[in-house]
Amino acid sequence: MVENQKKLNFKGGVVPALGFGTYDIRGKECTEAVRHALEVGYRHIDTARFYDNEHEVGQGLKQSQADRDEIFLTTKIWNTELAPHKFIKSTEESLRTLKVDHVDLLLVHWPTKDERETLLAVETLNDCLQKGYAKYVGVSNFNVTLMEKSVALAPIVCNQTEYHPYLHIDRFIDFVRNHDMFLTAYCPLAQGAVFKDEALKSIAANHGKSIGQIVLKWFLQQDQIAMIPKASKPEHRISNYAVWDFELSAEEYEDIQKLDRQYRIINPGWSCDWSK
Ligand SMILES: NC(=O)c1ccc[n+]([C@@H]2O[C@H](COP(=O)([O-])OP(=O)(O)OC[C@H]3O[C@@H](n4cnc5c(N)ncnc54)[C@H](OP(=O)(O)O)[C@@H]3O)[C@@H](O)[C@H]2O)c1
Repeated sequence: MVENQKKLNFKGGVVPALGFGTYDIRGKECTEAVRHALEVGYRHIDTARFYDNEHEVGQGLKQSQADRDEIFLTTKIWNTELAPHKFIKSTEESLRTLKVDHVDLLLVHWPTKDERETLLAVETLNDCLQKGYAKYVGVSNFNVTLMEKSVALAPIVCNQTEYHPYLHIDRFIDFVRNHDMFLTAYCPLAQGAVFKDEALKSIAANHGKSIGQIVLKWFLQQDQIAMIPKASKPEHRISNYAVWDFELSAEEYEDIQKLDRQYRIINPGWSCDWSK
């Protein structure tokens, strides 16, 4: 239920910690997934220009009974559009496609190897704020060095990056906590890899819960972390949102901490140096 949702405060804003990711859900299935996610209780929806599903995400918002004001909607501008005029144009296209007058969070989706170009896009986020296109702005897939440079250029509130039990990113998390921001964990379920894990299976059995619920609870017990699990199957959307009636013990939490093996799933050629 919405009432149980954990909320994160950041720079004067509030975001529901448990969101819904839509990568690779397309067409009518995507409209229905977003409508259903909102019915289940999710109030934080993640899309991107690159996902080619903004129209369907917008239709899902429209078809749901949920108030637009209650929904935290994120989109991202792709890294071929970082030049200021392209960035603004792509944001305007995004709003038109989503059929909304603003998004809650607008992100630079990826840096490029050209730092000057990347930071110019960060500066352009100010123009998007000024035009009312977004309530808040942020970045995705930025390392700590780029984050340090970015906070001097725009009032960014978020870094969306890969984070799950097999990939710990402590320096990234410390950075957002020290700057009144939040980190959104993408691939929170390691794209399904967690479901075969024996250690997680045993914790799930202790609670009579699913492995997905255990992993999402591990995130929810951390400060300033939002997560956006994707689920194309309705039963997965329901199960992933039924996480409000139990807690992991300190020992169970530590057992999950031990699963880190720096396993990174998303690492395209244009990624920044994650160690910086
Ligand atoms: N900023 C970026 O560069 C970036 C990169 C990657 C992803 N993202 C965002 O993060 C979101 C999540 O990442 P992701 O989609 O890559 O991976 P994910 O959320 O870690 O995993 C999704 C996979 O887990 C399965 N799953 C979900 N709940 C389940 C459950 N309860 N039981 C069994 N299987 C379950 C899904 O199956 P079904 O679909 O069959 O239900 C799907 O195969 C994306 O959708 C996107 O919005 C952002």
